[in-house]
Amino acid sequence: MQEIIWAEKSSVGVAKLDEQHKILIGMINKLIRDPQAATRSETVSDVLGEMTDYALKHFAYEENLMVDSDYPRSKEHIKEHLAFRETTGKFCSATAIDVSGIPEMLLEHLSQWLTHHILEIDMAYKAFFQEQGVR
Ligand code: FEO
Repeated sequence: MQEIIWAEKSSVGVAKLDEQHKILIGMINKLIRDPQAATRSETVSDVLGEMTDYALKHFAYEENLMVDSDYPRSKEHIKEHLAFRETTGKFCSATAIDVSGIPEMLLEHLSQWLTHHILEIDMAYKAFFQEQGVR
């Protein structure tokens, strides 16, 4: 499975958000490179939990920027974040009883969700934030 590549076209125009996206991509790439790594030092659910916790912190930061600047599409954007939280919560519970590694299907899901979310959903606020002077 291919790692996720962050390129300039992935930039949403806000330095802190780009930085957080790169960290999230790095966490998923680490698992894509070695899906068995989680079984060596931590449980699979711990690794997924750590990634989910970071994603939730990032979502909160991003949602505050959207709400504070009256971004008109914030409600639908926040729904996407909630859907991610529900899905990964279910995966975390399912993997809590299996320590054999991160399933390929899960990595595929995380990779596709994050790529689509950054390039389509997050990218939709780029021009708005730029007009509002959010950097
Ligand atoms: Fe960067 Fe909407 O998550």
